[in-house]
Amino acid sequence: MYALTGKTAVVTGAARGIGKAVANLLSAAGANVLVADILAGNAEESAAEIRRDGGQALACGVDISEESEVKRMYEVAQSQFKSVDILVHSAAMFPKYPLLDITVEQWDRIQAVNLRGTMLVMREAIRHMRAGGKGGAIVNISSVSGEREVVFHNAAYGASKAGTTNLTRVAALEFGSDQIRVNAVLPGGTATEGAREASEAMKKAGMELKGPMMHPGRVPLGAMGSPEDIAAACLFLVSPAARYITGQCLAVDGGFLVS
Ligand SMILES: NC(=O)c1ccc[n+]([C@@H]2O[C@H](COP(=O)([O-])OP(=O)(O)OC[C@H]3O[C@@H](n4cnc5c(N)ncnc54)[C@H](O)[C@@H]3O)[C@@H](O)[C@H]2O)c1
Repeated sequence: MYALTGKTAVVTGAARGIGKAVANLLSAAGANVLVADILAGNAEESAAEIRRDGGQALACGVDISEESEVKRMYEVAQSQFKSVDILVHSAAMFPKYPLLDITVEQWDRIQAVNLRGTMLVMREAIRHMRAGGKGGAIVNISSVSGEREVVFHNAAYGASKAGTTNLTRVAALEFGSDQIRVNAVLPGGTATEGAREASEAMKKAGMELKGPMMHPGRVPLGAMGSPEDIAAACLFLVSPAARYITGQCLAVDGGFLVS
């Protein structure tokens, strides 16, 4: 039920963090994986690790906010692996800016990567999946921050993730008749390089890490999730086990959203 043998998966943000764990797990399930990331060198290393473990993987440098680069990413997947069956879209940026200080340029860059990037990555995946005529499965990595305020100084990011969650539902509705399933996974706090960098940058800028998630006891299962926790939910949602599931947003957050 969880086998992906013969399928091609494009994983964005796969050079590190959650995307890398997803790429590894989908490869272990039998998929050919396009490891896509703006960090082209790290993407190359991640793809090489998968190949060393016996999988099929290729790296692709891409800035997901650029339409031409996103189109090229799918051309690489299509030409090298002959189909696009699965997309797990994990690439995003999450710098923190107080709402009263954020500049238009900072706001626009976050929306360009996180929201326009999601639209571009999803739109081009769906074009390829429809042309292939065999349906497909998409998982967008959104966030609990798209549902409610989680930590302070996250307005631009939260707005972009609320949009990502909404785009997930819209696409699920519009492309179900093509047997293209579109779901989202909403991580809570997850121990990744990106999360560590974001909190270090906050400290450096003199910003206190505060907000609902920081309250003691607020995450029922405690501590932070791992990239592998998020990847497991992604594998389920792209696999045949989830063949009748679309338009769902699955929080993998240790219970934060219900607390
Ligand atoms: N870590 C958390 O606590 C957490 C919580 C909720 C949601 N998320 C979401 O999970 C996803 C992965 O986050 P992570 O924690 O693994 O972060 P990360 O920074 O470790 O990994 C993100 C990857 O995306 C890539 N990327 C960034 N901008 C890009 C662009 N313009 N084009 C292509 N690639 C780009 C980065 O180079 C990086 O490799 C993101 O969508 C993030 O919003 C993370």
